[in-house]
Amino acid sequence: MAAPGRGMWGSRVGFILAAAGSAVGLGNIWGFPTQVGRGGGAAFVLVYLVCVFLVCAPILIAELAVGRRGRKDPAGSLEAIRPGNWKLVGVLGICAGVGILSFYSVIAGWTIAYIYFTLTGAVAGSPEAIGQFFGGFVANAPLTIGLTFVVLATTAGIIIGGVRDGIERMTKALMPALLLLLVVLMARSLTLPGAEAGLAYYLKPDFSKIFDMSIINAALGQAFFSLSLGMGAMITYGSYLDPKENIARAAAWVVVLDTSVALMAGFIIFPAGFTIPGFDPSTSGPGLIFAVLPRLFATMPGGELFGAAFFIMLTMAAITSTISLLEVPTSYLIDSRGWTRQQAVLTLAGVTFLLSIPSALGNGASAFFSSLPGVGMAFLDLMATVWNNFALPIGGLGLSVFVGWVWRADEALKELEIGGGMPGAALWSVLIRFVCPAAIAIIIFFTVRDLLG
Ligand code: TRP
Repeated sequence: MAAPGRGMWGSRVGFILAAAGSAVGLGNIWGFPTQVGRGGGAAFVLVYLVCVFLVCAPILIAELAVGRRGRKDPAGSLEAIRPGNWKLVGVLGICAGVGILSFYSVIAGWTIAYIYFTLTGAVAGSPEAIGQFFGGFVANAPLTIGLTFVVLATTAGIIIGGVRDGIERMTKALMPALLLLLVVLMARSLTLPGAEAGLAYYLKPDFSKIFDMSIINAALGQAFFSLSLGMGAMITYGSYLDPKENIARAAAWVVVLDTSVALMAGFIIFPAGFTIPGFDPSTSGPGLIFAVLPRLFATMPGGELFGAAFFIMLTMAAITSTISLLEVPTSYLIDSRGWTRQQAVLTLAGVTFLLSIPSALGNGASAFFSSLPGVGMAFLDLMATVWNNFALPIGGLGLSVFVGWVWRADEALKELEIGGGMPGAALWSVLIRFVCPAAIAIIIFFTVRDLLG
């Protein structure tokens, strides 16, 4: 039974925008184009779409169903449906929320700084100069730590207001603005002279790459992260959903919005990138957003404004995601531990801030955290690997086994059929029982193998 006074979304649109806001983030606008660049262009896009529809959409639906039936945080919801050790899957997700937020908020802080840098024309000059500017900026400890604090404080300030008056109200304002900015930037990029080269790269697949295991692995991981799956964010958001609402229909909106934004980000970045002489998407890595795009903005008429608009959009996308990352552990402390919302939010934001400091320092400010002895990785990259490449897939595997076999797909379908039935129920139950666990188990295997090999 839901605790009295527990939060609930005010409307269906409010829920969809909040869930889509969680999904749409740095992962779509920064991560997706970076992965497309590494994975060789259109072939990656194709594999990504298959992963979204066959593996991720069924898990999204499953997470929402668990939350709505359990009516609690991820651990509490699993426990409410089947008492026992399954709640540990939820606990792992709650830890992942803090872990991911700790490095995600560092990067979100960079995007805030770049609003200012592009607006004032601070990022200018040769490609090398722009790259060096980025390197110098991320190595500035007081500045990047300060900005991380701003991100966490903003996030905490929003979710302290609660589900409806905090999260829903904020995402309802930010998401339409974000979509509008995306369309404007896409129109600008597609009409640049020379945009065709980027379009060809982005849309014409090299079919020999489609069965490349490392591409499939990267695409599934990216799709998981992009849809905020594997750590119970969607369990938490589903737990605030009206008991009469149809889950699959709402989930379809979230999938379409998230995937469209990722695809649109590609339509902004590749046509623009390819107009720069010597642009190589496969080697630009994280610099794609912070070095390649500013280079473009610096040479474009009105570039300061477009540049600032781009980073404003990226910051908004990031904040609606940090909200969901913090809300998951918050809901756990409230629902399963009896804390007040205020205590939970402030404590978690504080802990996350402390944990974010090594990630902020590991980009040149501290030699130790920039290349951890024995690991040879920056602290931020280590955190991203642990949480994104391991915790999320393990959580997703646990969740699909739980829903498909423990709670059982036919029982879950009763929750899904509320409010207008469940189209494709038979297909969903095959996907959640067989396809999702098998696909995730395979990517975990390949991730471990790549790490050891
Ligand atoms: N989906 C967000 C992005 O694409 C990040 C995110 C928010 C997330 N909440 C999550 C990822 C929960 C995994 C799990 O940027």
